[in-house]
Amino acid sequence: MKNIVVFLGAPGAGKGTAAAAVAARTGARHVSTGAMLRDAVARGTPAGLEAKGHMESGGLVPDEVLYRMIAELLAETPDPATLFFDGFPRNEAQAEKLEQLAAESGATVASALLLDVSREALLERLGGRRVCPKCGAGFHVKSLPPKVDGVCDACGAALVVRADDRPETIAHRLEVYESATAPVIGFYERAGKLRRVDASGSAAEVAALVEAEVSR
Ligand code: AP5
Repeated sequence: MKNIVVFLGAPGAGKGTAAAAVAARTGARHVSTGAMLRDAVARGTPAGLEAKGHMESGGLVPDEVLYRMIAELLAETPDPATLFFDGFPRNEAQAEKLEQLAAESGATVASALLLDVSREALLERLGGRRVCPKCGAGFHVKSLPPKVDGVCDACGAALVVRADDRPETIAHRLEVYESATAPVIGFYERAGKLRRVDASGSAAEVAALVEAEVSR
């Protein structure tokens, strides 16, 4: 069986950080649609060209682009597997489509974890995020600083601020989250699959709570 665990939460809630940490400990596959799209943009693929403007403005990329990516990913994933979906689904139509795509590939959405954190903490986390443009490693100026200021621990490249982490784009991303993505919480609540995780603690504390939930 292919089991999918959906990670829900506002931009900056720590979905990527927690999913990566728990995947590394459990052998699950971390699937970040944001990272896949950023890679497509960097490589200039047709999907990347379609996604670029939407991502830079903090809006959502058209559903069809995501459906193609997710269908391919599920088809190529060997059975058995546990997949952590970080960033998909992001609206109710995507949540419904995921049920269909999962069924077609012999997968099940096992649970949806909602990482709960205050708006103040979201702004602090997004404002201090630094990323490596070469290997994709993520850092934070206060909570996860690199050993050498501004330099990636993993590959030595100069760290950058993510293109959509500018203050005006962050504000728009949070609006899009409230209007389009927050209703997905109700979708999984009605299905009896929603689990709430207090994501206000340190990255290690949040990862421990997430690991306990996915191991239940
Ligand atoms: P995406 O990359 O998914 O961005 P996001 O959902 O806005 O989430 P973030 O990556 O900003 O936050 P996160 O919750 O993963 O936090 P992180 O762990 O990095 O999507 C980007 C764009 O792609 C979208 O805007 C859209 O255009 C497009 N897209 C993607 N999927 C799509 C879809 N399905 N449909 C349509 N369009 C789609 O942490 C943030 C910072 O906080 C880091 O610096 C980290 O070190 C730090 N941190 C994390 N946890 C903690 C902690 N517990 N304590 C202190 N610091 C912490």
